[in-house]
Formats: sequence, structure tokens, C-alpha cells
Amino acid sequence: MKNLMLAVTLSLSFLAFNGYAEQASKPAATVSEPVKIDVYRSPSCSCCGKWVEHLKENNFQVTDNVVEDVQAIKDKYGVSKEMASCHTAVVNGYVIEGHVPANDIRKLLKLKPRVVGIAVPAMPSGTPGMEMGGRKDAYDVMSFDKDKKYQVFTHHEGK
Ligand code: CU
Ligand code: CU
Repeated sequence: MKNLMLAVTLSLSFLAFNGYAEQASKPAATVSEPVKIDVYRSPSCSCCGKWVEHLKENNFQVTDNVVEDVQAIKDKYGVSKEMASCHTAVVNGYVIEGHVPANDIRKLLKLKPRVVGIAVPAMPSGTPGMEMGGRKDAYDVMSFDKDKKYQVFTHHEGK
């Protein structure tokens, strides 16, 4: 009987400990700071508008500039043909080209690498603003600098 009591006590405290450990390991809800971003997009592109919505949902304060000549903006901010997509944005001095996920922009602002900016070249399906049902292409968010040095910043798996 004594042994049984001991076993019960032990397993109860084990459960209690586990419950506590589980709670403790859960990350505290991260309150993402609002981030100001300037977006330049063409009036005729609907996917750009959807990307702007994605940013707003992720606590970005968007200044939405609808411009006729997006190429002039890309030239101004040093976005090469290889990196080019539809819209271009500027955040804290970094250039954001194309359908870059909000999380990668936050990662950029946190890591502060010495690059001009990051891009998702072209418009892969499944990127924010380019949802095509459940289809998702694998794609890379690339970083780029003045010397056209391109590096993978984040790889995203397809499905
Ligand atoms: Cu687009
Ligand atoms: Cu766009």
C-alpha cells in the first residue's frame, strides 16, 4: 500500500512537472513592432495589392505609392533584371523587391546585413499575394548588393 501511494505521488508530480515544462517552453506571444514601409506598385497589378494586404496583416504601416513607371523605381533603387519582380518597396533604407514574406523583412531588419536589399525574383506561386489555391513553388528570397552579388537569404520549401 505504501508503495502504491509512492508510485501515485511520483507519477502525479511527474505529470505536474511535465505540464509546467510544456508551458514554460511555449514562446511568449511576440508583439511585433509596427514597421513603416513605402511600396511602389503599378495600378494594373492586383497581386501587388494583395502583397500590401499581407504586409498590413503583419503590422506594417504601408505608404502605398501607385506609379505608372515601376521600372524607373527599380533603376533608382538598384534592382537588377535578375532580381526584378512586380513591385518595389523601401524599408529602413533597404530595398524589398517582389513578393517577399513579411517575416523575411523582419528578419532583414533584425540581422541588418550589408546588402542593398532582398528580393523574390519574378512571381513564384504560393508567395504572399501570389496564392494559387494550395499550390506552392519552392523559392528563395535572395539578398543583393551593389556589385550584383546575389545570395540566398531564406529558402522556402514548396508543397
Ligand atoms: Cu506580383
Ligand atoms: Cu506586385
